Amino acid sequence: MTTMPPPPAALQRLPRERLPDLLARMPKAELHLHIEGSLEPELIFALAQRNGVSLPYASVQALRAAYAFTDLQSFLDIYYAGASVLLHEADFCDMAMAYFRRAAADGVVHAELFFDPQTHTARGVSMGAVIEGLARAQAQAQRELGISSALILCFLRHLSEEDAFATLQAALPWRAQFIGVGLDSSERGHPPEKFSRVFARCRELGLRIVAHAGEEGPPAYIRTALDDLRVQRIDHGVRCVDDPALVTELVRRRVPLTVCPLSNVKLCVYRRMEDHVLPQLLSAGLCVTVNSDDPAYFGGYVLDNYRALFAAHPTLGPREAWQLAANSFEASFVDAAARDRGLAALAAVVESLASD
Ligand code: ADE
Ligand code: ZN
Repeated sequence: MTTMPPPPAALQRLPRERLPDLLARMPKAELHLHIEGSLEPELIFALAQRNGVSLPYASVQALRAAYAFTDLQSFLDIYYAGASVLLHEADFCDMAMAYFRRAAADGVVHAELFFDPQTHTARGVSMGAVIEGLARAQAQAQRELGISSALILCFLRHLSEEDAFATLQAALPWRAQFIGVGLDSSERGHPPEKFSRVFARCRELGLRIVAHAGEEGPPAYIRTALDDLRVQRIDHGVRCVDDPALVTELVRRRVPLTVCPLSNVKLCVYRRMEDHVLPQLLSAGLCVTVNSDDPAYFGGYVLDNYRALFAAHPTLGPREAWQLAANSFEASFVDAAARDRGLAALAAVVESLASD
């Protein structure tokens, strides 16, 4: 990994009162976003009507009222039901464009989007409709909003490795459209090593490798994601704090964690935002990033996550805001030139706020 620039000197002149402006205006990358989790209830109902799909909820309000989760599984049950309205290429395109517009308003200049093909192919939707719809939105977002993006295909870990292999095979005609693979869905009881062979194949194919680990599952899952799957980033990973030797190892290898504060509170990983361990992870020297996970379900997009986190943790100030945004570029899969452009744009925003 190449060395990162030091914080801009202007950061020291930036008083805490400028934090709201800094959070809003700083350019950032979003690296942990399930595109199906950006489906707002209004769009779910509009697509259900367009596609003649019936929903087990009478109204947008009734659906929203069901978003009271007790753990990951209670969320996933509703999330998969919501995704059932997605049938055609245009649906995937409309969903992703709605996300890109919202992300652009939050200062996102680069996004790496997870998608769950098995959720759709199991209902008879073609792999082409999924990937081509998302790819069309990516091109439109680059053109109209100036947001760059990439796709990461996620395997559902509650299904078999055989199913993951079949999904990889079905996606290979669109190999150029996705940069990497990930692992999501129900974590407990489905350790990363269940997918060792399919991830080995993905590495041979030159795909980037990430996995959800240590969201609800134990630190041991983070270790096997690192050592068995050989991931380049850990999604969530917050439970590493239970294993200090693992924290040391993550710092030594500079493995980024894509943390999702509002998600963790909504899914009861922490009771309150004040209990979130992100400040502890950051001061341990980990490459932590802030992300929205499933923003339509968890009460906010990426800027809402930054705001909620900083409001609950008075020890976090402009220095930490800059660090988190800089980490998002460092941890992203963009090339060095794009990363340096992101970091330079970030430094320019700091300078301009410090001299206003
Ligand atoms: N799929 C969508 N969101 C997820 C999360 N937070 N954890 C695991 N799988 C997911
Ligand atoms: Zn996630």
